[in-house]
Amino acid sequence: MFIHSARTFDDIIFRRELDFLAATAPNFRVTHLLDDSGEQLNAELLRDMAPDFLEREVFTCGPAGYMEAVRSMLSTTGFDMARYHEESFTFDAPAVPEHDTGQSFKVELTRSGRTIDCDPGTPVLAAASRAGITLPASCAQGMCGTCKTTLLAGSVDMQHNGGIRPREIADNKILLCCSTPLDDLVIDA
Ligand code: FES
Repeated sequence: MFIHSARTFDDIIFRRELDFLAATAPNFRVTHLLDDSGEQLNAELLRDMAPDFLEREVFTCGPAGYMEAVRSMLSTTGFDMARYHEESFTFDAPAVPEHDTGQSFKVELTRSGRTIDCDPGTPVLAAASRAGITLPASCAQGMCGTCKTTLLAGSVDMQHNGGIRPREIADNKILLCCSTPLDDLVIDA
């Protein structure tokens, strides 16, 4: 049983691959829960989807807040937490420009209502964090897609590790954790 929570249908990572597995692997089932449909994982829903979950191993992967919520929810169900596992990513230190030219770009974060400075070699996520702005993120390595947002103006150098699809890139989506500015930016974040 694979339960995947995402913000929207378009944010489901590896959807086709998961559907293929569900259609071909005898004991593999997948359920997607979408935030924009008001679908949140809770104990009641878990019981419906996997009535025998108390007998199973549980593996959780996602942003720290998500994993904390799952852990907390499970602990109220009588689940044996010795059979609960989490995947943690290794966080790299924020990238530092090899040659600091003293140049920096303006990055406007429209939803936060802030404009910050970002050096050419610094990922936008790291620059935002240094400015005291916490944006959704998890792996910080361009893999999970949690920091995906829309680039409204400007251009970036994005060195991702599979956390974004080509059609999303064509649709001006970027991953903030692995995108450094090439000029001033406006971002939907
Ligand atoms: S935080 Fe995982 S891709 Fe950016």
